[in-house]
Amino acid sequence: MATPHASADERDAAHDETFPEAIDAIRTRRSGHNFDPDERIDDETLEALVRDAALAPSSYNLQPWEFVAVQDEDRLARVVELAYGQEHVREAGTAILVVGHTEAKTADRVFEEWIEAGRMDEASAEQTKAQSVEMYEDERFGRDYAVRNASLAAQSLLLSAHARGLKATPMIGFDAEGMAEFLGLPDDEIPVMLIAVGPSGGPEPERLPRRSVDEVLHRESY
Ligand SMILES: Cc1cc2nc3c(=O)[nH]c(=O)nc-3n(C[C@H](O)[C@H](O)[C@H](O)COP(=O)(O)O)c2cc1C
Repeated sequence: MATPHASADERDAAHDETFPEAIDAIRTRRSGHNFDPDERIDDETLEALVRDAALAPSSYNLQPWEFVAVQDEDRLARVVELAYGQEHVREAGTAILVVGHTEAKTADRVFEEWIEAGRMDEASAEQTKAQSVEMYEDERFGRDYAVRNASLAAQSLLLSAHARGLKATPMIGFDAEGMAEFLGLPDDEIPVMLIAVGPSGGPEPERLPRRSVDEVLHRESY
């Protein structure tokens, strides 16, 4: 087990002994631009990716996300246009828009599940539900709610794709309003991340440098 005094290398070693492949997947995941344009993922893989993404953590397990997959050639061409001509989306063969709810619209069902599982009594479930529904009525909180939760689902999808030997690229370079309209999103849901996913067409360029832990880690206060 890692101790609070272990060096960075020792901590890494301790983690590596538990789930080495998971650590490896985190470290080797890349955003891909080099897809095989002649291949695309099958239905089973698409569903597996979404199943993994939907295991992401979410506020009160509300799972405020949706996934809109586009594979039809003509529709994908429109997605490429809305993504300002980013051709790798077409070459990937599948674009998945990760959508976030701006309101706690799954609250009735999910808080019922908390009660059924004996994890919350009825009174506190009612109170928590009322609070979260009210909180997300605020526009800023609502958008934060959508982006925070759906972004975690997007990251899980990226890692799942990588673990399955696929390439996946998260993207916000697209016309969000146009995409929402094209894909028929309800008014209370917003596009959070567009993911191009598909079989690899070869290696990616070397990763750009990452800011160091010393630079980004602030202990106790900023
Ligand atoms: C919020 C966000 C938006 C991004 N938007 C785009 C995009 O529009 N097009 C694209 O090709 N890559 C996009 N990327 C991928 C980044 O360029 C990439 O993650 C970054 O260069 C680091 O490379 P790596 O993911 O291979 O480690 C985006 C990534 C994030 C997290």
